[in-house]
Amino acid sequence: MNTMRVMWACALLLCLGSVWAFAGDGQALVEKTCTKCHDLGRVRAAFGVKDQAAWSATVDRMLSKPNAPAVSHEEHGAIIDWLAAQKK
Ligand code: HEC
Repeated sequence: MNTMRVMWACALLLCLGSVWAFAGDGQALVEKTCTKCHDLGRVRAAFGVKDQAAWSATVDRMLSKPNAPAVSHEEHGAIIDWLAAQKK
């Protein structure tokens, strides 16, 4: 009985963990979202140059262009965190 409970707890944790990893996968989101209009070279050129605030402004500017893909609030945060953490 106890073993079953432990197994369920583990399954639940695994499930929550993968949801979190998905929402927080900034790199995959950047690769998907930011290559629609230009390649990643343009993004990489600003690694280590822009800070979190500058990236936030850039991402807002990019995503308000015509034809920009829709991004959820969580994805937006994950994108900016990942970009701001990159070094040259
Ligand atoms: C709808 C098309 C489009 C999408 C989507 C897009 N970009 Fe851009 N991006 C552009 C265009 C056009 C330019 C050049 C003109 C300009 O700077 O506005 C540009 C320029 C840039 C620049 C150089 C100029 C600057 O402000 O530093 C960076 C960095 C950049 N994009 C990053 C990103 C990132 C990060 C994403 C993903 C969140 C992204 N872009 C998504 C169209 C897009």
